[in-house]
Amino acid sequence: MQSDFPEKRNIHLFFIEVKYGPRCRPANRSAVTVENSERVRDMHVLITGGAGFIGSHLAERHLAAGDQVYVVDNLSTGSLANIDSFRGNPAFRFAEADILHWSGLDKAIAWADRIYHMAAVVGVKKVLEDPVAVLATNMTGTERVLRAIHSGGWNPQVIIASTSEVYGFNEKDSFAETDHIVLPSAGRLRWAYAVTKLADEFLAFSYARKYGLNIVVVRLFNTVGPNQVGHYGMVVPSFVNQAVRNQALTVYGEGNQTRSFCDVRDTVVALDRLAGCPEAWGEVVNVGNDQEISIRDLAKLIVQRAHSASRLEFMSYKDAYGEEFEDVTHRRPVLNKLRALTGFEPVWALNDTLDDLIEKARVKTLRAA
Ligand SMILES: NC(=O)c1ccc[n+]([C@@H]2O[C@H](COP(=O)([O-])OP(=O)(O)OC[C@H]3O[C@@H](n4cnc5c(N)ncnc54)[C@H](O)[C@@H]3O)[C@@H](O)[C@H]2O)c1
Repeated sequence: MQSDFPEKRNIHLFFIEVKYGPRCRPANRSAVTVENSERVRDMHVLITGGAGFIGSHLAERHLAAGDQVYVVDNLSTGSLANIDSFRGNPAFRFAEADILHWSGLDKAIAWADRIYHMAAVVGVKKVLEDPVAVLATNMTGTERVLRAIHSGGWNPQVIIASTSEVYGFNEKDSFAETDHIVLPSAGRLRWAYAVTKLADEFLAFSYARKYGLNIVVVRLFNTVGPNQVGHYGMVVPSFVNQAVRNQALTVYGEGNQTRSFCDVRDTVVALDRLAGCPEAWGEVVNVGNDQEISIRDLAKLIVQRAHSASRLEFMSYKDAYGEEFEDVTHRRPVLNKLRALTGFEPVWALNDTLDDLIEKARVKTLRAA
């Protein structure tokens, strides 16, 4: 499925800067409201992987703000259901295509004022099943996007999605952008995803530095919320679905590993602000929520909030993923840089996100029955 879109137009961002200046940090919380209400309308926004979990929320945010949104997605892990509610909107366009081969890429990039490059092979299970696809999509795909931006001849705002996985096996309990990357020297495939995302970061920095492109690399920590699916090894949707069905919640290892979960509706606010923030261009920035919880406590919390009769069932990593898998103990972001650049504070508490997801999963289960 594909549709036309307008021709390139490059005057837009000039006016944004003239009107609002190069600063992007709201002076106080009320300034956030001013920022939103004074937001420049009709921005052209291209989202690769826009039928996926985070991409579909970006699309929703920009459509609500009056922007035009163009999504390209091969629907490998994304779905039409995620973008169904936008389909009748004349400001929304969708191309079902693979970014590795899409003939419309150059034209779409030349059209865009802003690009969120989210398309990637994601999820532990997928990565272990098909490391070749991970390497191709995550590296060649990103390079293709960057090349097209450079040859497009002008300078859109660009977000490149990286991941907290790039911190690798570093055993610190929280991670700042300046911390070392620690990856095992043995060629374990479990790390293929992190390696490809690290390569993407270096590609992005190289293009940003050499050609002066306005690129922000975001290291996303665990993101949760509506539209996320559990089939590819994502823990929160898996637990929620098990809890609403009163099935056992499968905890890998002993469940002592901790994670920090950011609601996707907060994540997209951070990405939107970073993209429009000249001080962030050429930088890598952690994006997430710094509240931490162990996976065992997360499982118990979901059972409690769902008033579920589920019990916890523990499974070794070997049984879950095979010999290759090694998990990391902590993944908590240090968010000083994000806060300093954008004034961002997450507004969704984990309990509220879980209640929302439990409610949505219940409705879905009832409809399916
Ligand atoms: N969700 C998280 O917690 C998290 C954490 C760290 C990083 N990220 C990064 O954020 C981005 C979005 O992740 P997500 O959680 O929304 O996952 P997702 O799987 O829902 O989204 C990825 C989208 O890309 C699409 N896609 C994959 N290969 C493609 C290709 N070759 N051509 C076109 N489309 C393709 C998929 O169909 C999917 O819709 C990814 O780059 C991921 O690495 C996500």
